[in-house]
Amino acid sequence: MVELQGIVQHYGGVQALRGIDLAIRPGEVYGVIGRSGAGKSSLVRTINLLNRPTAGRVLVDGQDLTALREPRLREARRSIGMVFQHFNLLSSRTVHGNVALPLELAGIAPLEVKRRVGELLDLVGLAPLRDRYPAQISGGQKQRVGIARALANRPRVLLSDEATSALDPETTRSILALLRQVNRDFGLTVVLITHQMQVIKQVADRVAVLDAGRVVEEGGVIQVFTHPREAVTRSLVEDVVPQALPESVVARIRALMSGAATPGQLLRLAFAGEGSDQPLLSELVRRYGLDLNIVHGQVDEIQGRPFGSLAVLARGARESLAAAVDHLRLAGVRVEVAHV
Ligand SMILES: Nc1ncnc2c1ncn2[C@@H]1O[C@H](COP(=O)(O)OP(=O)(O)O)[C@@H](O)[C@H]1O
Ligand SMILES: [Mg+2]
Repeated sequence: MVELQGIVQHYGGVQALRGIDLAIRPGEVYGVIGRSGAGKSSLVRTINLLNRPTAGRVLVDGQDLTALREPRLREARRSIGMVFQHFNLLSSRTVHGNVALPLELAGIAPLEVKRRVGELLDLVGLAPLRDRYPAQISGGQKQRVGIARALANRPRVLLSDEATSALDPETTRSILALLRQVNRDFGLTVVLITHQMQVIKQVADRVAVLDAGRVVEEGGVIQVFTHPREAVTRSLVEDVVPQALPESVVARIRALMSGAATPGQLLRLAFAGEGSDQPLLSELVRRYGLDLNIVHGQVDEIQGRPFGSLAVLARGARESLAAAVDHLRLAGVRVEVAHV
């Protein structure tokens, strides 16, 4: 649906993008995450050629946008909607007027504009506020206007650059739910830029991790959360799923270990998917005769599947412990033997 081939973006001496290749599938919510300055905004702005890349090609629906000239480029851009972190609404226009603008620019007849804007405001739940001005509505409501405006020309692709970064967590959830809804209802492909793993976790199907102008890691969201390969990805996942054990838990583990006759190991388990941890743990007890203490844990959900981590203090014969770790790894659980 959206294909980026060898995208390079230089601003004078700054190399913001250093060769990006991405293939975004039709109908998916594709997340791009990275720390500030990684090149996310540069990347998303090349998709609709708000920034023309220094090198590389942008294909949308098979059409090479970089080869188009006005007015065909303007026409192609209409199939790409965009929402912004700071909403970019016109303060002199009402809610209705802001959503109407792209339709007016596209030369749609006034009656049709009115009808379409009415539908769009119903969709985003803002019909009662149609005559308010941006200064008279909340941040979340402004972003709903931004989304309605982005959808006005019935785009095939929606670009979102930090659309929820200026919003509180609860409003963020409701805006992300709205993006997910339009993605499902209209089969709209969504490219979602964010610096928050929480956002990726809630709505993305796949994710690319951008670091210093390069994609350093890419994959299904569950895969990336459970098996992050790069340090930058691990640190982003850490924002959502803290890896460090609380001090009180470490103290408790030390106490448990020091009083014990049998040697113990602290196992950190990361799991995802249907096969949740409990049957596996009881199997470890049965098959390897281990003694287990769950000392810490958290379970979350991604794409409706359980996802989480456990810290387990395991005691038993050295060979049994090693066999148990192998057993867990074979079952797809990521295991680290931790030191406390
Ligand atoms: N218009 C510009 N002129 C010069 N440098 C820019 C411009 N836009 C972005 N940059 C630089 O490019 C790099 C990537 O910026 P950006 O794409 O905004 O990253 P992000 O959105 O991930 O924070 C940064 O070093 C930034 O300072
Ligand atoms: Mg940015």
